[in-house]
Amino acid sequence: MKQSELNNKASSYVDSYEVIKSLSSTFEPKGIFHSELLMAYTLIKELGVEKVIESGRARGQSTEIIARICQQDGLEFHSIEYDDKSPDVAVAEKRLAPYKDVCTLHYGDGFELMPKLLDGKDTLIIIDGPKGVWAQKLGLLMLKKENVKAVLFHDTHRDAYDSRPRLERYFGRHLLVSDDYEYVDAFSYLDDVCWQETNKFFDGYAPYKRYNTIMRSYAGTLSCVINNNIDETMLDNYINDINRSILVKESLLFRLANKINLISMIKNLHWKLT
Ligand SMILES: C[S@@+](CC[C@H](N)C(=O)[O-])C[C@H]1O[C@@H](n2cnc3c(N)ncnc32)[C@H](O)[C@@H]1O
Repeated sequence: MKQSELNNKASSYVDSYEVIKSLSSTFEPKGIFHSELLMAYTLIKELGVEKVIESGRARGQSTEIIARICQQDGLEFHSIEYDDKSPDVAVAEKRLAPYKDVCTLHYGDGFELMPKLLDGKDTLIIIDGPKGVWAQKLGLLMLKKENVKAVLFHDTHRDAYDSRPRLERYFGRHLLVSDDYEYVDAFSYLDDVCWQETNKFFDGYAPYKRYNTIMRSYAGTLSCVINNNIDETMLDNYINDINRSILVKESLLFRLANKINLISMIKNLHWKLT
């Protein structure tokens, strides 16, 4: 599927998405925005999957919307959250109580639980925790599984330096993104409530802006890879590349540099010079 095709298809689902949105609880901060979830909705419909697995639930914003989609279409849905001690747990559990029959809430690490939840059913995966290189590693491992039809990565905006450049380099034109300018023009109107509620927690968020920083993307951004004729060698090279990055990021030296803010100073300099 090309980006232009996704944009057109999303137009045909936006009315039914708006019904789901209007019936849902108020937007929860940290949540995936409505225009982004419209992209997930479109892909769930177009790929005809039978199951959805989400990693990273927090306060259950994306979870409720996906649960409603799955309920409507009779799909199986599993949501995984790592942090069972967070205050978000109570918020999510209350919000998701009406969807017990459609959505199973799991506690644990996506790396461990996700492979166990796969079976013969065609599945779409959404990763919103872990993040960055760890999200890519999880997603790439899932793309090696036959029944995984697509993987969606959240927080892959154009300034996500450890995610977006690699996704673009390896998947090129096959990457579908919710920060595509035409897509944003068409569907950002869905997000008014998301900006309002997000700003109650994180002041200074707006389209193409976070705090005082200009962003090259409209918002957090979902990027999608459809699992169709992906070159195995390319996938293995990408996994090796990510493993090397993880090794660096988990090294003592890198963590120390991060602590004293050296990494973000280098990043800022890099963006200023390029
Ligand atoms: C941005 S929040 C998710 C928001 C949620 N998708 C929504 O739209 O409301 C990210 C969540 O991912 C969780 N997380 C981080 N690493 C994880 C992992 N390895 N497995 C499962 N969850 C993880 C965090 O604890 C956090 O609650």
